[in-house]
Formats: sequence, structure tokens, C-alpha cells
Amino acid sequence: MVDQPVEHYRSSTPKSGSLYERAAAVMPGGDTRSVTYHDPYPSFVASGSGCRLRTEDGETLLDFLNNYTQSVLGHAPPAVVEAVTERFERGNGFGAPTTEAVALAERLVDRVPSVEQVRFANSGTEATMNAIRGAMAYTGNETILKIEGGYHGTHDTVEVAVDATGREHQGIPRDVEDRVLTTPFNDPEALKEAFATAGDDIACFILEPLMGVAGGLPADESFLHTARDLTEDHGVPLVFDEVMTFRLGYGGAQERYGVTPDLTAFGKFIGGGLPVGAFGGREDIMSVFHPHEGVADHSGTFNANPATMAGGIATLDALDEAAITDLNRLGDRLRAGVREVAADHDHPLRVTGDGSMFQLHLTDETVTDWASSAAGTEAFEDLFLAMRNRGVFMAPRGMGNLSTPMTDAEVDTFLETLDAALDALPETSS
Ligand SMILES: Cc1ncc(COP(=O)(O)O)c(C=O)c1O
Repeated sequence: MVDQPVEHYRSSTPKSGSLYERAAAVMPGGDTRSVTYHDPYPSFVASGSGCRLRTEDGETLLDFLNNYTQSVLGHAPPAVVEAVTERFERGNGFGAPTTEAVALAERLVDRVPSVEQVRFANSGTEATMNAIRGAMAYTGNETILKIEGGYHGTHDTVEVAVDATGREHQGIPRDVEDRVLTTPFNDPEALKEAFATAGDDIACFILEPLMGVAGGLPADESFLHTARDLTEDHGVPLVFDEVMTFRLGYGGAQERYGVTPDLTAFGKFIGGGLPVGAFGGREDIMSVFHPHEGVADHSGTFNANPATMAGGIATLDALDEAAITDLNRLGDRLRAGVREVAADHDHPLRVTGDGSMFQLHLTDETVTDWASSAAGTEAFEDLFLAMRNRGVFMAPRGMGNLSTPMTDAEVDTFLETLDAALDALPETSS
């Protein structure tokens, strides 16, 4: 049976439709995040509890997006709500440090051996921006090497080569492009070439151990080892962006894949659902941020905001090794299930990912990098809507991830919904 996903969506979300009209009058595109938009309009969420969302239209959705990996414990986990509330009630933001910042920094340093010192910020964007700034201050170099398609937030340096559709991101000074080099994902030979040509001018090589936005693609361990060797040979700090991938291991993806970077950027869940970022690593590099002896500046009114720190502590304490193992097992189960569902349909459905992160692709191409991943994005929107109409929420471009309140039952529901949505998808979408 082929259904009419857009009509179905409009008729079940009239309140969101009118909220969207109101929003569009006062915010460009009706939102303040480009990524949350989808046609015909996004629906508005009133609340979240565990792994479920309640929309303004009164629907309940199983949340397989978790604010793009932020809500690893699901929504409103009681221990986090209690910690944040208790901290907030004692005042929040003093222009002076608090014990909560020390306690969260200690937890990150304990979990991630490559992180000897850490600083807090307010977003993953700020985390990668400051990690890069630290590397530049440390090396005295200004050239940044990144992966083609690698997404590291929205500051100028990392907005280069992020859109495989060719849509130009304007508003970025042209000379930024001159000092950003890119290299293809999982291609050790190209990486060797880049270092042979420019190695001594590079301030840092930044990459995600698993490309999140650019396809849910894990790096080959051999590629990561090549990156480690080349950066070491040239005295270039290796920066892992673990804003999303920290959830893949107790010590992040760097522990899971066995490669040690010099600097790491964090974000998403380490603030317990409040805005957060952090960057840390080798003490000799991080010392550039020392307030008296360092050469780089890093400040921010909301850095190490006490309520954020309290939320982060409660979250990290709950996300122990057992919780991560369980999440990763559920992820394996989901990916295996998707492959079985795909085998029963004519649509060219593929799945990538690792641990509790996954990405569905509707494309004939084998997905190996940002370009092949982008090939199926447009077609996926129909499948997204078909799943959304059946109560399963994920990213419009096919990205998903799991939260600890989920069990095998939610994964089964996901797979049954995917099966039904594919049944209903018109042939032209594939
Ligand atoms: C890998 C990665 N780095 C950095 C960022 C930027 O984080 P934020 O949106 O908190 O600025 C993101 C956001 O999704 C991300 O996925």
C-alpha cells in the first residue's frame, strides 16, 4: 500500500503547522537550527520522558534522534533533573569557579587517558574552535587539515568542505579557505601525500573517529593509526572531535578504536542536557590557555556553568561501562535488523554506524564518504516522514542513535516501523 506521507503528516500535526507559521514570521525558516527543518514543516515537541517525545499535537514518538546524540540517558532522567535542580536552587553563575567544574573535569580526565587537562565551553562548536586555537598557539602554524565533509560545528575554519550538495556556505571570509586543507576519509595514501606536501605547516589534523553528519562512517583503524603516526612524525597535534562519538566507549571512540589523540573536543551529553562543550588533552598543549603563563585566550560567561556541570556529573555517573556496553549491543542488533528488513524490500536501503550510532541511507551506491552518503539524503526524507507518521522519530537525513531507556522492544518497534514504512514508500523514492 502506498500512502500520502505529506498529507498524512499535515492532517495529524495541525497545531505544529500553525506554530510553524507563527515561528516563520519571527525566525528565518521558522527555527534557529538549520538542521531541524524538514518539509513541509517540523513538528513542535512539548515534552520528553525516557525514550519518548510528546508533540504539541498530542502524538507520542519514539525518539531515535535524541537531539543528535545529546540525550544519551533519554529525556528528563530523574537523577539528572534532581542534580540540576538542586544546583540551580543554590544560585547559578558566580564569576568564580565551583566544585562542580572540578568534579566534571576530574571525571573526563579519569575516563579519557589522553585528556590530562580540560576546559569547558558552551557548545561543540566552541570546543572544536578552542581545540584548534590551542593547537595553533602551540605550533605557531595556521593551516588546518580536516576530512572532506567532516562536520565540527559552525565556526569559520571548520565550515569548509562540509556540504556535499555543493551548496556554498557564504558569510565566511574567503581567506579562511586558503588555510584549510582537506583530505578524503579513510584514504591513508592521500593523507601521506598531504603531510608530505604541507606537514610542517599544519597546526592540527582534526577528525571524528566516526564521521557522524557525513554518513555514520567509522574510520578504519589503519587510517587512524596512519593519522597518529604522521602527526607524531611532523609534531602536529591530532585532534579527535568526540562531540558525538564519546558515547561509543567509556573513554570515547579513542578507547574503542585504540588510537590516542593529543586533543579531544566534547559536547552533547556531557552537560546533562544543558548547553555544553569541552576540550582537553596533553598538558603541554593545554597550558597555552594558562591565564598568566599561556599565550591563548579562552573565556565565556557560561563556561562551566554550575547547573550544566551538575547535570554532566550525574550523566557521566549513570553512563558507566555497563550502560555503554548495553547501548552498543542494542546498536548491533538494530543494524543487523535493518539489513534483514532491507533484504526483504526493493528499495536500496543501507545502514552504517557503530555502537549506539547508526545512519540509514537510501541509495544504490556503497556509502564510503560524504559524497556517497549525501547521494541518498533527498530520497530519505520520504522514508523519514513515513516513519515519523508511524511514531518513530529520527533525523530527516537518516541519522539515528540510541538512549539507555531503550530495550530490545524499542529496537523491534523501530524495525517493524521501518518495514511498514518501506512497504508504503512509492517506488519513485528509491
Ligand atoms: C562532530 C561534531 N562536532 C561538533 C559539533 C557542534 O556541536 P554544537 O552543535 O554543540 O555546536 C557537532 C554537532 O552536531 C558534531 O556532530
